[in-house]
Amino acid sequence: MASGRRPEHRAPPEIFYNEDEAKKYTSNTRMIEIQMTMSSRAIELLALPQDTPSYILDVGCGSGLSGECLTEDGHYWVGLDISKAMLDIALERECEGDLIHSDVGQGLFFRPGTFDGVISISALQWLCNADKKSHNPPKRLYKFFSTLYASLRRSSRAVFQFYPENSDQLELITSQAMKAGFTGGLVVDYPNSTKAKKMFLCLFTGGVNTQLPKGLGTEESAQSQAKYSDSRNRWKKMKGKSVKKSKDWIQEKKERRRRQGKGDVRPDSKYTGRRRAGKF
Ligand SMILES: C[S@@+](CC[C@H](N)C(=O)[O-])C[C@H]1O[C@@H](n2cnc3c(N)ncnc32)[C@H](O)[C@@H]1O
Repeated sequence: MASGRRPEHRAPPEIFYNEDEAKKYTSNTRMIEIQMTMSSRAIELLALPQDTPSYILDVGCGSGLSGECLTEDGHYWVGLDISKAMLDIALERECEGDLIHSDVGQGLFFRPGTFDGVISISALQWLCNADKKSHNPPKRLYKFFSTLYASLRRSSRAVFQFYPENSDQLELITSQAMKAGFTGGLVVDYPNSTKAKKMFLCLFTGGVNTQLPKGLGTEESAQSQAKYSDSRNRWKKMKGKSVKKSKDWIQEKKERRRRQGKGDVRPDSKYTGRRRAGKF
């Protein structure tokens, strides 16, 4: 993305994500499918205990697309966002999480150890900008990460999909996260593809569960790469239809559960994703 065109360079987030942008964001099928695919991957990287609901914080939850994936996976969640317009859309869409209007650069105010995990999709890079005279990005990042660390249970993870502008920003973000006490690092999916490449900062609060996962599409996971390109082509056919509960969405979810080694995934059949009589 050319630097002049990045949303963070156009206006502060609470202004950029105004009513018009918030509506546009949530009616764009391509955008929805990208955000939901990245959210599902972030949830996978959280490595939550199987088959028990967790309590998750969604940082920069926007209109609730990422939260919807959490609900879909049976988790409870709280979403924070600085844009009132985005939160209004989340309310309109009757998202199941609790929504809080807040600027995370000012720090979080939850009881210590409240959450079992954190996801954040396409939001973290916004904290690297100084939108007001009083803003100091390293300080805001540190305040955010240190209060986030305290809000998390020990042995839990925070996974951020984000778009750093350059290596300095990446360094700034990771150094403030480490200073706040986190360990972990970067997981890059499809590093050799300009279009599919995605970065996830995986942070750990210590204890167990601290092995950095492998990126998809790397040599170690060549199989997943083939699966991913299939699923991307499937998504392309989705224009104008509801993503959730569609055959494509169900197959994407089944593939993810298989990757996670969950044994309860039914084989695909001609009935997968078909609407049954009496079920809506
Ligand atoms: C690209 S949107 C992503 C929304 C949602 N996570 C999704 O995947 O659809 C980025 C969101 O980050 C939010 N954001 C940016 N800076 C923020 C801040 N300082 N505090 C809270 N939210 C922020 C914006 O308001 C916006 O809703």
